[in-house]
Amino acid sequence: MRLSVGTLRQPIPLHADRTAIRSRLIYLALTLLRSACFSNSFMPTSSKSTRARQRDAVSLLRAEHQEVREWFEQFKNATDESRQSSLAHNICDALRLHTAIEEQIFYPAFFEATEEKAIHQAVEVEHHAVKELIAEIEQSTPSADYFRAKVNVLGEMIKHHVKEEEKSGGMFAKAKKAKMDLVALGRELAERKSELESKQKESRLIAMREAL
Ligand SMILES: [Fe+2]
Repeated sequence: MRLSVGTLRQPIPLHADRTAIRSRLIYLALTLLRSACFSNSFMPTSSKSTRARQRDAVSLLRAEHQEVREWFEQFKNATDESRQSSLAHNICDALRLHTAIEEQIFYPAFFEATEEKAIHQAVEVEHHAVKELIAEIEQSTPSADYFRAKVNVLGEMIKHHVKEEEKSGGMFAKAKKAKMDLVALGRELAERKSELESKQKESRLIAMREAL
């Protein structure tokens, strides 16, 4: 049985044999462990949430950009399939959270403060394309045709997205100029992210329980 990046989101077929079920459970357990490592879960919750709440919206989003950029670089050099799968999984999860908090909180606040319709719509269209590619990667495996190409193209799309937001005169610069309350917005983003992260972990635990 081939395990894909999104395996944990799919039900185990009734006819699955014991080896396949065992592989799935091992994969799910490793996924939870990886998720804990990469989200700095070994850091005490209080200091982690305090640090996140102290960040303003732009710093928080920039830090997320940096995190996925590093994973994309590591992916380019990864030759081992399990490492590729692990990195792709982290990238997809992080981008799902990032796009969600931007769309639900940061973009509406930006549009309300600046009325920059063209920028607002452009980033939303970019997100749409990014999410479609994420869904394809999650259904794929490192040994499948186009897997590497898909992750690398996603990396290029994110590079462009980051440039549009971070460049001088870009979205973040305009947000600062518009005197948005970026500290309050940062708190809101951190809280929403934490809620969504909990839901992600919860759905994995449910998938594990269902697989037993
Ligand atoms: Fe972003």
